[in-house]
Amino acid sequence: MNSLQIIKPDDWHLHLRDGEILKAVLPESERHFARALIMPNLIPPVTTVKQASKYRESIIKALTEKDSFQPLMTLYLTEDTKPSELKLGVQTGIITAVKLYPAGATTNSQSGVKDYKKIYPILETMTDLGLPLCVHGEVNNDSIDIFDRELVFIETVLDPIRQRFPKLKIIIEHITTKSAVDYVNEGGKNLGATITTHHLVINRNNILAGGIRPHYYCLPVAKREPDRLALLETATSGKENFFLGTDSAPHFDTQKESACGCAGCFTATNSIPILTQIFEDNSALENLENFVSKNGAIFYGLKQNKSYITLKKGNSNNLPQNIICDKKNITVFDPGFELNWEVQTTF
Ligand code: DOR
Ligand code: ZN
Repeated sequence: MNSLQIIKPDDWHLHLRDGEILKAVLPESERHFARALIMPNLIPPVTTVKQASKYRESIIKALTEKDSFQPLMTLYLTEDTKPSELKLGVQTGIITAVKLYPAGATTNSQSGVKDYKKIYPILETMTDLGLPLCVHGEVNNDSIDIFDRELVFIETVLDPIRQRFPKLKIIIEHITTKSAVDYVNEGGKNLGATITTHHLVINRNNILAGGIRPHYYCLPVAKREPDRLALLETATSGKENFFLGTDSAPHFDTQKESACGCAGCFTATNSIPILTQIFEDNSALENLENFVSKNGAIFYGLKQNKSYITLKKGNSNNLPQNIICDKKNITVFDPGFELNWEVQTTF
């Protein structure tokens, strides 16, 4: 196959930041995506509908082309979030989902949740409102090995929540393990998962073997090769409950290439060419549209996008390898293989 037309993709997990970084990185998502679910881990975090609305306006204002991209907003869940705030978010149409960060688990998550019992009333309200819960599925516990934190979260935090709120729609974000794939496969229609581009490409050797490669460090950290293969098999199967959430997370090189480097891979620029290549290499091009354009919208109960993109055999060497912002550099994720597909946007 030399050419393929698919519904314009959505990114169900994206970090855009704000200010100058927002302006620098937004065109990278605008180019290939129609919509994205915008993460609320700003400083300060987006905890109110008013803040989310203001943030949404600033994103829309920063678009290079009017109406080319729709930001779908999330609220940052804290132990103090009020049910009335969520009701307002739904009534006004500002809020698409709520994001649960275990306190301290990742970038700007200090205001997240420590005592899960405290958020049970909120989860009750969300169930009634049909408002989905996105979770950063890792415990933040020094006594738990970092490579086990996803599974321990599923067993000790998520499963009790699901038992108690079976009708709550939950998305485990950026899953990294075969255990998470198996758990979602058995979870029924109210449980979904996003998979990032980079977790389909790298395993932990890419980060650590032969030298530390900070641009491959993200959270949850990439796991073993059998885990990557389980993610790959699931994503390329086109199965309904799994969809793309890039977790594209810009950090300046100075923050990544440091004695204590930040977590995040910046993949907004080349996710779609990388994924097309991966799906082709796995003889699964026919399932690409499910993974990048259809499954997420179905899970969130939203309409499919009306615009299309055309993927053509060619090369994507013209895509930027760095994003410059305030004379500082943000390195674009390097998949380590040639990209033989280019994207043409058809409106
Ligand atoms: O790698 C990551 N980067 N994982 C996250 O959960 C947060 C993100 C960020 O905001 O930089
Ligand atoms: Zn994220």
